This record gives sequence, structure tokens and C-alpha cells, in this order.
Amino acid sequence: MNMQASALAHPNIAFIKYWGLEDEARRIPANGSISMNIGPLATETTVTCDPAIKADTLTLNGKPVSGLALARVQQFMDRIRRLAGSNLHARITSENNFPAGAGLASSASGFAALALAGTAALGLDLPEQELSALARYGSGSACRSIPGGFVEWLTDPLSGETYAHSIAPADHWDLADCIAILSEAHKPIGSEAGMRRAASSPLQEGRVLDADRRLAACREAILERDFAALAAVTELDSNLMHAVMMTSEPPLYYWQPASLEIMFAVRSWQAEGMQVTFTLDAGPNVHVITIRTLMGEVVRRLRQFPAVLDVLSALPAGPARLLTQDSPS
Ligand code: PMV
Repeated sequence: MNMQASALAHPNIAFIKYWGLEDEARRIPANGSISMNIGPLATETTVTCDPAIKADTLTLNGKPVSGLALARVQQFMDRIRRLAGSNLHARITSENNFPAGAGLASSASGFAALALAGTAALGLDLPEQELSALARYGSGSACRSIPGGFVEWLTDPLSGETYAHSIAPADHWDLADCIAILSEAHKPIGSEAGMRRAASSPLQEGRVLDADRRLAACREAILERDFAALAAVTELDSNLMHAVMMTSEPPLYYWQPASLEIMFAVRSWQAEGMQVTFTLDAGPNVHVITIRTLMGEVVRRLRQFPAVLDVLSALPAGPARLLTQDSPS
């Protein structure tokens, strides 16, 4: 018996960032977060389970993966096997349609697609909330790539359940994300290792204590389509996270001089009256958020920076979805 499923998921960009875990084993984040799924960027993953397969294998963009990256995927598959009560192993193939090594996190779309394809291949049909809760064990931000559009990751204080849900669909607001790629190098310190240091920064406590206020402001800005309010809270939140990173022990500097140069440019474009804002994840690339009608102009301006290697443009995107599912053959 051989079971196969394919799924697609989009990456997401957070306006309110997740940085630090309150409970590492249960993957409970120190604070809630809000993001927007972005397409057409996507990961497509096929999981084939077969009794003839003795250990999980992973092929990413046509290349076999080994070592720690494979071990992380195998552990995630173990979790799905426990849920499904199965001992079948899998052949996993995954393709990103965005440039490999563009310094863009593919772990969110990757683990969201794997959660969906992996559970479907083992015969499970989980509701969105459970799928999102599962995806976080692959990568925290992956839980936000399960629901569609504008998404909030929250922890229920009573039940302790932690999962993401959609606060508005993708077509709610015509935003765009113009991503200035400054480095194609792999991050020296990935987000998992980086956020273990968060608590060592004297600023993390203040960042976390103020998170509910920022979450409320961001949620409201999205629901009201209030760009100025979204810009204010997005920049504040990105700067707070990077301040924590830079003041952790040992410190983490993800910005490059050109990152700051672009942030300054965005501020001058705001002074011209343009609806633009910026946010940076655990890397030097700058996500310039704007409205769809300004996307072409923002991309053109970003391409003029000598340090900018490429600019990707993306729009709000829908939920993770199953592409195919083949039952026992
Ligand atoms: O999901 P992870 O472990 O890759 O962490 C994501 C961390 C940030 O991208 C920096 C912030 C976020 O909320 O996406």
C-alpha cells in the first residue's frame, strides 16, 4: 500500500514578530504575532508513504538533503506518525518557486506544506487549527502559513493551545511586499538558535510585556485598512526585535549597512507622502510593504541601490492547500 499527497503553502511576513519561546518543548511563543501570507511565492511538497521505504528521505529543489536539515524533517514526520498511529516512512520532495538561498525563510512555507501533505498521506484530515498547531513544531512561523491572508498566532491562556487563525482573507487589503535581497548567503545564526538568546537581552522583557498592545494596534490597522497605523506598529515591532537581537549575549547583528540605507530611504519616501513601510526578519533583506498600486514604483526605486541583488514582489496570499491525494494503490 502506497499513499501520496501533495500540498502547497506560501511563506509569510510578520508585522508583529515572534522572537523567543516561553516553553521550548511545547513550542509556546513568548508573544503572539501577526503576519500576511505572500504569493506567488510558494513551496510545493509531495509526501509518498510506502512500507518499502525504511527511513524518511528529503529532496529539496532537486537535491537530496542530509544532516541536521533532514533530521529536523524526520522528527516532524515522527510527530505525524504518532498522531496517525502509523509506522510508515516517507519519500518527501519539496520545491520552492522562489530563488534558493535568496535569504528568504522557506521554513514557514516548507513546514506548512509538509504538515498538510504529511498528514494527508498518512490518512489524517485535521481541522485548520490542529494543522496550524502541528506545523509550529517544524518552525514556529509555519503555523501562520496554514490559514489564509492576514493571520494571527495566539496562545489560549486557559487551554494553553497555540495556533494561528485568519483575521482577514487575502483579498481584504491590496498590500504588496517588495523584498530587497541584499544577501544570498545562508544566515550565520538561524532563527531557532538566535531566539534561544532572546531572554539574555534586558530589552526582551519590555518587548514581550508590550506585545498585546502592538498586536491590538496591528489587528485594528489591518481590519480598518489604516496604512499609517500599520506602518507605525510594523516599524516599531521590527526595530524592537532587532534591538533585542543586537543586545543579546552574544549579540546578533542581522542588519547590513544597506539594510539601514533602505530603511532611511523608506522614511524619506514616507515624507514624500508614499504609503510604504519596512520590516526585517532574521537576515539583512528588507521587506518594503506598500499598496499594490505603488508596487512597480517601489521595485524600481529599490533596484537602484547598488547593494540590492534582486527585488521580489509578492501579494497577500491564501491558505495552505492540498493539491492531490492518492489513496491506497
Ligand atoms: O519560525 P522561525 O523559527 O523561522 O522564526 C521566525 C522568526 C522571524 O521570522 C524573525 C519572526 C517571525 O515572526 O516571522
